[in-house]
Amino acid sequence: MILMVNCSLKVKDSNTQYFLERLKNSLDTCEIISLRDVFKTGLDEFVKKLEMADALVIGAPLYVDGLPAQAVKLLEMLLEEYKGKFSNLPVYVVSNLGFYEASQIKPLLDIVRNWCARMGCVYGGGLAVGAGPMISTLRNTVIDKMLNKDVEKGIRKLAKTIAKRESMENYYTKTMIPRAVYLKAAHMKFNQSLKG
Ligand SMILES: Cc1cc2nc3c(=O)[nH]c(=O)nc-3n(C[C@H](O)[C@H](O)[C@H](O)COP(=O)(O)O)c2cc1C
Repeated sequence: MILMVNCSLKVKDSNTQYFLERLKNSLDTCEIISLRDVFKTGLDEFVKKLEMADALVIGAPLYVDGLPAQAVKLLEMLLEEYKGKFSNLPVYVVSNLGFYEASQIKPLLDIVRNWCARMGCVYGGGLAVGAGPMISTLRNTVIDKMLNKDVEKGIRKLAKTIAKRESMENYYTKTMIPRAVYLKAAHMKFNQSLKG
């Protein structure tokens, strides 16, 4: 069983959830849980699930150029109480961000990689998706296919790697529209939201 944890704190319309579900559709037995629920039910319940899992996928949006604080908290608690317990467990990451460049997700992936080294887990690689909210919001529209060209490639590559419990280099998606167009659209949306 592959355990996926969505570390977004959004109650609905989580972009991370969207990318995790797409990955789940390419794999066999997976369970997606939310970090909010992990904190509600407690660490022991989470550890029980992790004991049954043969891979862990951390789904996390980029928050202030890093991992959301609540996800850091979970990793710290696991390190404090269970260091060495999950040795050889492969850990993967699916992350997205609001900015155009997926490369800005590198520090988040490094945090998880370093945590794996300290925990004794195996860092299996990450998928970093640029312009995540746009890709998630425009799903099933006429430009969905174009926007998703490289994301789909990344999801397939990660799914293949997870299925074999192997490791891969981090995959940073290319955003399939020109940067200037993305910035213009993002500013228009931002100005609209300010007007309420
Ligand atoms: C508190 C907070 C901090 C964020 N920081 C960044 C950031 O540093 N860089 C960025 O590109 N996007 C940032 N974002 C945007 C999110 O990464 C983006 O909207 C993502 O799709 C959210 O995923 P979710 O819907 O699963 O929560 C931030 C969003 C929030 C709420």
